Amino acid sequence: SVPSLASSDGFVHCLLQKIPDELVLTQSSSSFTDVLVSSIHNPRFVNNATARPLCIVTPTDASHVQAAVRCGRAEGIHLRARSGGHDYEGLSYRSARDGEVFAVVDLGARLRAVSVSVDDATAWVESGATLGELYYAVAKTSPVLAFPAGVCPTVGVGGHFSGGGISIMSRKYGLSVDNILDAKLVNAHGELVDRAAMGEDHFWAIRGGGGESFGVVVSWKIRLVEVPPTVAVFAIVKTVDEGAADVISRWQHVTPRLPNELSIRVKVRGQRATFQSLYLGPCASLVPIMSSIFPELGMTSADCREMSWLDSVAFIQFMDLTTPVEALLNRTTSLSTYTKAKSDYVRRAIPKDVWKSIFSWFAMNGSDQMLLEPMGGFMDGVPAAATPYPHRAGVLYNIQYITFWFGDDTAAVANRWINDLYAFMEPYVTSNPREAYVNFRDLDIGENAVSNDGVSTFESGKVWGEKYFAGNFERLAAVKAAVDRTDYFRNEQSIPPLPVEI
Ligand code: FDA
Repeated sequence: SVPSLASSDGFVHCLLQKIPDELVLTQSSSSFTDVLVSSIHNPRFVNNATARPLCIVTPTDASHVQAAVRCGRAEGIHLRARSGGHDYEGLSYRSARDGEVFAVVDLGARLRAVSVSVDDATAWVESGATLGELYYAVAKTSPVLAFPAGVCPTVGVGGHFSGGGISIMSRKYGLSVDNILDAKLVNAHGELVDRAAMGEDHFWAIRGGGGESFGVVVSWKIRLVEVPPTVAVFAIVKTVDEGAADVISRWQHVTPRLPNELSIRVKVRGQRATFQSLYLGPCASLVPIMSSIFPELGMTSADCREMSWLDSVAFIQFMDLTTPVEALLNRTTSLSTYTKAKSDYVRRAIPKDVWKSIFSWFAMNGSDQMLLEPMGGFMDGVPAAATPYPHRAGVLYNIQYITFWFGDDTAAVANRWINDLYAFMEPYVTSNPREAYVNFRDLDIGENAVSNDGVSTFESGKVWGEKYFAGNFERLAAVKAAVDRTDYFRNEQSIPPLPVEI
C-alpha cells in the first residue's frame, strides 16, 4: 500500500477557495457518479471494488488545473488527469493501489475547444477534446487539412497525444506526436508553462512518454497536414476459406513497398480478416497500384470509393456509408463491453503456417480481435530517440490484441484466452525487449513499486518502461527527476525519477 499523508477535507477546502463550487464535485454531489462514468470506456472498473476519487475537478480554465495541483501538493492528495477516459487500465480515474486517496482532474468535461488557423495550417486543441471533435473542427474549417491520430472518435486528445498517437496516415505523416509544435502544461509546481518555459527536454518527454508523468497538459499546438479534397477507401473481407492466412502473410511483405500515401490495416475477428484502407489520392491511381503490388487481395474499382477525408474517418470507424459525420462528435461511450488489450510489434514477417494457427485462436471466440497497424514509410525515417516513442525504423506493424466479454462470469475465460495467445505469439514478435505500445496500456507487463519516501522506484519502472520506451526510458526518467523529483504526478505506470547515483 502507498503511504498517504492525505488531508481530504483540507484539499476540498483549499480547492473551494480557488475554484467555483460548481466545478468541484465531491462524492456527495448529485452529478458525481454521472460525471465519473461519463467517459469510462471499459466497465471493468465501474464496480464497488474500484476506489472512487475523493472528488472530481472539472476545470474550465488552466488556472483551475493549477489550483488543483497546488492544493493537491499542499494537502498530500495525488491527482489523476483524465481527458477521454479511454485508458485501457482505467488509470485516469482509478487507483489500483490499496488506500490511495486521489482526485480526478477531468479535462474532458469542459476543456475541449479547438481553434484552427488555416493561414499557417496549425491548430490549438484543448486536451479534453475527442479525436472526433478535432477531426470535425479541422475538416469543417478546411477540407484539405487533416491531422494524423487514432481511428476511434471518442478517444481523448490528452491521453492519446501523451502516448504517441498511431494513425491510419502514420505511413505518410507519422504519429500525432510528430506533429506537435507547442503545448501548455501545468507542472509539478502548479505553474502554467509553454514549450519555451518548460524547455526542450520536458517538451520532448510529453510527446509520447505516456500520460500523467510530466504534468497536466492543458492544450496542444499541432501542425495540420494536407489531404486531397477527395481520398479513396476500401474494405475487403477475406475468410479463412478464402485464404485469409495467405493474404495476411503476403500483406506483411507488401506493406513496406506501398507508397506512403497508402495504408492498409487489418482487423482479424473470428474466421475473417478485414483489410481497411485509406489512400490519399483517387481510385484511378489506387486500383493499378493494388493490382500490381498486391494482386492477392483481388481489389478492383468496384471496391473503391471516393469521399472527403472527414467522410473517410467516419467510414473507417463505422464501416457504413450512411452514418453522418456528425456521429464523430458523439462522446457517449458504451458500458456494455468489458475489454482487456495487449500489444506487440513485428519486425520480421510471421510465417504463413503460423497465421493459420493464429486463426485457430480466433475460432474459439467470435468477438475477440487482433488489429494490425502498418508502419514503415515516414515512420522509418524518424530516429528512435526523436520522441519517446521508440518503435520506428524496421517495424513492419503494430499488433493490438483485444478480448471482449459481457459480464463477470466470462472474465476469467477471456483473460486466459488473451494471455495464452500473447504467450503463443512470443517467438514471432520483437524480443529483448518485447516491445509494447504505451497507449495500449497493459499492467500485466509491470507496475511501479513505491518506496517509503513515496517515490516510484526506477528499478520497478524499468521492467515495463523498457518495453514501452526501449532506449528512451532512461532519458524519460532523467527528465522526470529534473521536473518532478518527489514524484507528485504518478500512477502505476508513470515514469519514475532517475536516482541520483545512476
Ligand atoms: P485517459 O483520459 O484515460 O488518459 C490516458 C492516460 O493519460 C492516463 O494515464 C491519464 O492520466 C493521462 N492523461 C489524460 N489526459 C492527460 C493530460 N491532459 N495531461 C497529462 N496526462 C493525461 N491509440 C492509437 O494510437 N491509435 C488508435 O487508433 C487507437 N484507437 C483506440 C480505440 C479505442 C476504442 C480505445 C479504447 C483506445 C484506442 N487507442 C488508440 C488508445 C488510446 O490512444 C489511449 O487509450 C489513450 O491514452 C486514450 O486517451 P484518453 O485521453 O481518452 O484517455
